[in-house]
Amino acid sequence: MSEHFDVHGGARLVGEVEVVGAKNSVLKLMAAALLAEGTTTITNCPQILDVPLMADVLRSVGCEVVIDGGTATITTPAELSHRADSAAMGKLRASVCVLGPLVGRLKKAIVALPGGDAIGQRPLDMHQSGLRKLGATTTIEHGCVVADAETLQGAQVWLDFPSVGATENILMAAVLAEGTTVIDNAAREPEIVDICTMLTEMGAKIEGAGTSTLTVHGVETLHPTEHRVIGDRIVGATWAFAAVMTRGDLTVTGVNPHHLDLVLEKLRHAGAEITTFDEKGFRVVQHDRPKSVDFVTLPYPGFATDLQPFAVALSAVSEGTAMITENLYEARFRFIEEMMRLSADARTDGHHAVVRGVEQLSSAPVWASDIRAGAGLVLAGLCADSVTEVWDVFHIDRGYPHFVENLNRLGAQIQRVAGDPDRA
Ligand code: EPU
Repeated sequence: MSEHFDVHGGARLVGEVEVVGAKNSVLKLMAAALLAEGTTTITNCPQILDVPLMADVLRSVGCEVVIDGGTATITTPAELSHRADSAAMGKLRASVCVLGPLVGRLKKAIVALPGGDAIGQRPLDMHQSGLRKLGATTTIEHGCVVADAETLQGAQVWLDFPSVGATENILMAAVLAEGTTVIDNAAREPEIVDICTMLTEMGAKIEGAGTSTLTVHGVETLHPTEHRVIGDRIVGATWAFAAVMTRGDLTVTGVNPHHLDLVLEKLRHAGAEITTFDEKGFRVVQHDRPKSVDFVTLPYPGFATDLQPFAVALSAVSEGTAMITENLYEARFRFIEEMMRLSADARTDGHHAVVRGVEQLSSAPVWASDIRAGAGLVLAGLCADSVTEVWDVFHIDRGYPHFVENLNRLGAQIQRVAGDPDRA
């Protein structure tokens, strides 16, 4: 049975909301637990669909996984299976992050090609070429990445692009390789720093976390650890956009505002008053109609592609015209078609979009195509004239814990409704 959200327009969001651990960190940290025999505990886990899915992936290679509220306990056996091809693999992108740890520990892996959001092409060429540099052979066979190595030898790896997933997989193989690996043009996302922190706690030797050059001195074994996931900057930013769009006043805790420096600066240009609290959170107050601001998506510390739908939704109700440039995932502009159903005045041309703000959006049924697009449609619905039906909300459930409950607590009117759409 499908579910949709009925989002009532006209809300002003006010209050305090706590952000928990980052989806794009916890799933990789769970994969990292494969690197050490024994029990690893991960705390501050978000209660989202992707976490139990990743638990199933780990179980399929022999781990015991218990998820209790925000704590995941992963017991990794001495003998792991090198074959990760369960049905869960195809349901999320992060499942591919078991590749690096399995190659690191077992020197071989058969890993089903991952699923995840339909946001454009997501090849694995850089993951594979990095592992090849370390001495593995890799091929794609029958829908799986197949990797095999006699030994893993540290090497110099240059990435064509600072890919988050490729950096993670190469890093997690290199920690158990012989000798030193240098990953140049590495991703610098806070979630990469979080993995480096956990791996270091496990006994890995890594220099340069948070910079473009990661140097990894291989060690023979790693040991389990207990690690707290960093707060989800994308969820934190979602609340910041929600405050600005609804001319609200939100205090967001549990997320490091420095992970959102550029985002918060952009929102200041839109007219928001923003106060930050050390590494603990921030407050966003918006009094008047926001002003249009241009956005360009880039790898961190640039403006995250995951926030592009919110940039479009904000621009759709702002005063003026905004140019939004998407440099990572071409298909993410599909979101704009849904925004146009809500009467947004927007045009795309290649990887640019021009959005002219309107005073009021007009409610309509709309369909979420991925996690962020779904959340973006909910925020747009809050600024529309009546009740906006947002369909395919399972996407939103993959990334936003207690989204409906939080929104209602902050002054929105939104209901989860079961039933199929009567779309022709
Ligand atoms: N790319 C390649 N070859 C590769 C790997 C990547 O060409 O081997 C390209 C991709 O096609 C894309 C760009 O490089 O154009 C960036 O991809 P990246 O590898 O950095 O992305 P990812 O690791 O697959 C993660 C997040 C995404 C987020 C991107 C970019 C996870 C599970 N996913 O994906 O998050 O958009 O980084 O920041 O960590 C989301 O949370 O909604 C989401 C989609």
